[in-house]
Amino acid sequence: MTTQHLSGKVALIQGGSRGIGAAIVKRLAAEGAAVAFTYVSSAAKAKELQNSITGNGGKALAIKADSADAGAIRHAVSATVEAFGRLDILVNNAGVLAIAPLEDFKLEDFDQTLAINVRSVFIASQEAAKHMG
Ligand SMILES: NC(=O)c1ccc[n+]([C@@H]2O[C@H](COP(=O)([O-])OP(=O)(O)OC[C@H]3O[C@@H](n4cnc5c(N)ncnc54)[C@H](OP(=O)(O)O)[C@@H]3O)[C@@H](O)[C@H]2O)c1
Repeated sequence: MTTQHLSGKVALIQGGSRGIGAAIVKRLAAEGAAVAFTYVSSAAKAKELQNSITGNGGKALAIKADSADAGAIRHAVSATVEAFGRLDILVNNAGVLAIAPLEDFKLEDFDQTLAINVRSVFIASQEAAKHMG
């Protein structure tokens, strides 16, 4: 059971192509929001999700943007505002989980995890705040 109480609102979900992020995308769209979401690897799933929402009369935009890349995050925010005119909701869902014994854990994996799971939250929030007032 959903309402349309997010009608007129615009959301951006970092990491919305599958899993929990895709569920959030669907729910926000069902509530009436225009929803942009980012993906990296799952292009087919992202396209399918976008099409399923627009096919039901909703507004959706899949944006390829690596959350480890500050420029890509900023572009995702500006592309959302360009497409839908505003930004009201930001969901920082993108995340990775690297697992290995401490002595084998690669520094690159540590840096990548921090970039996607932590740094991207700061960058996206900072960029989104410029449009949220
Ligand atoms: N599931 C759990 O039990 C659990 C528990 C604790 C916390 N979490 C956190 O909850 C969030 C979602 O979990 P999940 O289980 O739904 O994860 P998931 O199934 O692995 O999905 C991750 C999502 O993030 C996207 N993503 C990954 N790396 C990205 C990057 N560099 N830039 C942009 N998007 C990226 C993926 O897109 P592509 O496939 O297109 O790359 C996908 O849409 C994650 O942050 C995870 O750490 C999950």
